[in-house]
Amino acid sequence: MIPNLVILISGRGSNMRSLIEASHKPHASYRVALVLSDQPEAAGLNVAAELGIPARALPAQGFARREAYDQCLCDAVHAAQPALVALAGFMRILGPAFVHTFAGRLVNIHPSLLPLYKGLHTHRRAIEAGDVQHGATVHYVTEELDGGPGILQARVPVLPDDDVPALSARVQQVEHRIFPLAVQWHCAGRIACRGDQVFMDGCPLDRPLIWNESMQ
Ligand code: GRF
Repeated sequence: MIPNLVILISGRGSNMRSLIEASHKPHASYRVALVLSDQPEAAGLNVAAELGIPARALPAQGFARREAYDQCLCDAVHAAQPALVALAGFMRILGPAFVHTFAGRLVNIHPSLLPLYKGLHTHRRAIEAGDVQHGATVHYVTEELDGGPGILQARVPVLPDDDVPALSARVQQVEHRIFPLAVQWHCAGRIACRGDQVFMDGCPLDRPLIWNESMQ
């Protein structure tokens, strides 16, 4: 049976869309079983539903403690029997229990060339630092925020007149290429993570692969 992917979102879901669309291609190694959002108003929920994917909100309001919400989320994700869980703009920090439950099958996309610019406002920080290069990274998730081992990284230039929207749009274009590719690799058994070590076709990676157009 084709492996299940569960996608967690909080917002517009453009990365989610790229994952769903890639799953509809002939040689896809996964199917999207479920989309969950912590934000009931997330535009991505409607996008997922229009693309025929079960999608629902699981708001954190009403949970007294973060652990209780995480447990509820964990149960909902677990029920979909995922081979992989993809954080696609999911804006909550997941606690250790959730991360351990899905260790080695939890990936995130972050809009920077990690380990640079963990956390928020990555595009603004790259511009302010005068960087000539910026990008995005797909990585396995560990307890350290944006600190898990990298899988695949895409670089884009920072142009002299860039503002945050322009740079963000350029980064998103490559996000939509690398996230489906990394998910495809994981679900096809080409990449795996054991402990803090990523393996690609059985070989340990000491840094993320750098994306290029010919990769598939
Ligand atoms: C992306 O920039 C991603 O790198 C970050 O959150 C953003 C989500 O955007 N983790 P979208 O909702 O997929 O359009």
